[in-house]
Amino acid sequence: MNLKKLAADEAVKLIEDGMTVGLGTGSTAYWAIMGIGERVKNGLNIRAVATSEASDRLARELNIPIVPFSEVETIDVTIDGADESDHSLNLIKGGGGALLREKIVASSSKRLVIIADESKVVERLGKFPLPVDVVPFAVELTLRKLAALGCEPKLRRKEDGELFKTDNGNYVADCSFGAIADPAALHDQLNNIAGVVDNGLFIGMADMVIVGHQDGTVSVL
Ligand code: 5RP
Repeated sequence: MNLKKLAADEAVKLIEDGMTVGLGTGSTAYWAIMGIGERVKNGLNIRAVATSEASDRLARELNIPIVPFSEVETIDVTIDGADESDHSLNLIKGGGGALLREKIVASSSKRLVIIADESKVVERLGKFPLPVDVVPFAVELTLRKLAALGCEPKLRRKEDGELFKTDNGNYVADCSFGAIADPAALHDQLNNIAGVVDNGLFIGMADMVIVGHQDGTVSVL
């Protein structure tokens, strides 16, 4: 059973004619974009903005009308995935390297709907290494400051060994903190480091998390 598609299909039902929709990034958001494409093919009239070049490309292939951000005031609903969600709907995102654009889009959305398979729901955030978007300039200094907060930062690399670069030309430091006791405090500490653009903690941003379960059911946090 495809738990990601199960959650995505449920989220896509929330989209109505006339809405401006934010398209997330990753293998779960993929299914939402596919579902939206299907509804557009059947006459749904929406416009959309994408959180990554990959999602932008996929949406265009499916004839989902993508509009420039300059034409958008607010986004009615954004559907995106997550690497972890706790029961207070605090998230870790950025496993796909798109956290910066995802946070910009989420922060301009009236509703942020997260879709996930059941493995993503955790008691405490932090098992998944926290992605931190950092500028390439003096990155070694930034990594040392990240380490001083109690993690082991590793610059993300592609399969060929090259450093991974985001759609904005930044690096991603994957920071293993272990269980994060105070996600909101850590969020602020990280973003206070010069050289950090943003981090993958999404605190109080999600309005709902739709979870697909092995038994074929869907629940909502
Ligand atoms: C990309 C993200 C993704 O939403 C997150 O990594 C989950 O990805 P997937 O749905 O492939 O498990 O934050 O930056």
